[in-house]
Amino acid sequence: MVETIAWKDNQVIMIDQRKLPRQERYVVCEGYRSVIRAIKDLVIRGAPAIGVAAAMGVALGAVKIRTGNMDRFKAKLDAICREMAAARPTAVNLAWAVERMRRVADEAGLAGVEAVKAGLIEEARKMLAEDIAINRTMGGHGQGLLKDSCCVLTHCNAGALATGGYGTALGVVRAAAEAGKRIEVLADETRPFLQGARLTAWELKESGIAVTVITDNAAGYFMQQGRVDAVIVGADRIAANGDVANKIGTYMVAVLARTHNIPFYVAAPLSTIDPSIKNGTEIPIEQRDEKEVTHFQGRRTAPDGVPAQNPAFDITPNRYVSAIITEKGVITPPFKSRLKRLFL
Ligand code: MRU
Repeated sequence: MVETIAWKDNQVIMIDQRKLPRQERYVVCEGYRSVIRAIKDLVIRGAPAIGVAAAMGVALGAVKIRTGNMDRFKAKLDAICREMAAARPTAVNLAWAVERMRRVADEAGLAGVEAVKAGLIEEARKMLAEDIAINRTMGGHGQGLLKDSCCVLTHCNAGALATGGYGTALGVVRAAAEAGKRIEVLADETRPFLQGARLTAWELKESGIAVTVITDNAAGYFMQQGRVDAVIVGADRIAANGDVANKIGTYMVAVLARTHNIPFYVAAPLSTIDPSIKNGTEIPIEQRDEKEVTHFQGRRTAPDGVPAQNPAFDITPNRYVSAIITEKGVITPPFKSRLKRLFL
């Protein structure tokens, strides 16, 4: 399976997701600012993957701080953490990962600057390994929801590329395939960045799982034809009541699934759940450059002077969600009380 991100000799190395599937290129980050750039530019994307990238970015920034004085070190680290947490607003995994790094720095504080640096590197690597293990556990829980032979529709990319490895929504698909089930995936192409057509299709093909790309507009058509047995998507943030922020277009898919009596599942680790947010209206939605919409492969497709809007995520209200698949098991409605229990 593809390695999304790695820490090597005080460098962070990421596969360049802007270039896939045509080119398999790697971006090498030597400082925390290049990690921030990579997150903003979608070199690396997907909620759990940007969480791991942020943790590694903080570790990279810490390593480069040149002072033995703990107070000065902490002040600089704090500035790095603040910059890193602001790289993208919607996926809560980013802020969650930075917070976890801050805690490690605080706990190791008495042992001196070099010990804090070592602790931060160790924590970032641990988060990568943990994420992969969590996805495998989640896959195991989720695959039980799928029939022995079935067609799963997914939106965006919630696979190995969007995580440390294995994937959330695609982790469920992988686990089902590993259990011997005959799984076929319909991948929404996911305009405008084409995470589905480029990334989901690429990684499933690499893994030998049957995948067909469809336009986003065709999801309803295939549901109406009786071709879709289940929808599984990932999430960027889940509010305390189970409202789900995910890639723009997810809401449309969820409403369609309900109309056609197709179960709509969300696979996400606990790090994607934000218990501090009551419902989806409080989730900040990233607005991206309008050029992603007005242009295609560097050339303008919309008429000159016509503006575009480019919200990167939308909110699916909890009533459209059949179940949330986490590493702690499959959670069904009512979500508010059941999600709360996960954090006790
Ligand atoms: O803008 P992106 O590509 O970072 O958006 C990613 C998604 O919306 C994914 O579905 C989500 O992060 C879950 S990834 C396991």
